[in-house]
Amino acid sequence: MTATELATAAQSEDSAFVEFWNEVLAPKFIKFKHVLVDGLTQHSEAVFPSLPVKKGDRVLDVGCGFGDTAIKLAKLVGPEGEVVGVDCCDAFLEYATKDAADKGITNVSFMRGDAEIALPAEEFDFVFARFGTMFFANPVAGLRNMRKALRPGGKMVHIVWRQRADNPWLSMAKDVVLQFLPQPGEDALTCGPGPFSMSNEETVKIMMKSAGYEDTELRRVDAPVLVGNDVSDAIAFQLAIGPAGEVFREAGEKAEQMRDEIEAALAEAINRQKISADGIVMDSSSWVISATNPVQ
Ligand SMILES: C[S@@+](CC[C@H](N)C(=O)[O-])C[C@H]1O[C@@H](n2cnc3c(N)ncnc32)[C@H](O)[C@@H]1O
Repeated sequence: MTATELATAAQSEDSAFVEFWNEVLAPKFIKFKHVLVDGLTQHSEAVFPSLPVKKGDRVLDVGCGFGDTAIKLAKLVGPEGEVVGVDCCDAFLEYATKDAADKGITNVSFMRGDAEIALPAEEFDFVFARFGTMFFANPVAGLRNMRKALRPGGKMVHIVWRQRADNPWLSMAKDVVLQFLPQPGEDALTCGPGPFSMSNEETVKIMMKSAGYEDTELRRVDAPVLVGNDVSDAIAFQLAIGPAGEVFREAGEKAEQMRDEIEAALAEAINRQKISADGIVMDSSSWVISATNPVQ
């Protein structure tokens, strides 16, 4: 599929999840970019030095967000290589395109696409995704599209969150907010299945096998992440994004009426966390999943 066909397919068939990313989450992600990108980077930095990428490779970055990993990959493949970043969210793509231009990186391009529907059908040497695949409503379809974007024998790496218990930076605030507000209902508006949908090792291996990969391996990465520059930044972040943010958003007027009590309880819980010179730090844990597209 060409870039134009891909953009047309994605735009004419936006799913409710893609609309949610564009309309609800994008402004919140932009506001808390300083927290999100720094935290997520801890997990990709742990594997970047050992990624199976060499000079001259063609690389696809799926769910590339603000484009920082695509730009790093573009530096790894050098001027004779090429990186394409795909995301379903216009505002992130705009930021990524401008950032690459400002940095004078010319071997990276960004395009709109829904990975569950289609990805560029060129033969990439390597496909990468940092914290994008857990949002696929149909994970096998998305993972299969990523595999089909690879040349035979090409490699992929995607990074996803491990279980809730090892990710208090995402789960702790939800537990606090649930003391005041109900769980979101079945019809809650969401960005997809959510951060822990690929946390189970056995389930992920079955998904990868069903998508046609071989040699799937999971490596655990633990990293402390910044959740805010100070307590009020951390509270605002938690009530905007992630599982706590979803509970708060879905409760609507009731959440606003209880905002003072909820913020006070969150402040108490956040004050018990580690405080560094940069702000509030909490534990996080990911799987780095690597696999190969079989040679037929
Ligand atoms: C948690 S963010 C991670 C962004 C970036 N990879 C990073 O690590 O900073 C998830 C990203 O996946 C994108 N995304 C979610 N579902 C997608 C889909 N079906 N197709 C393409 N992008 C998708 C979102 O727009 C968002 O940019």
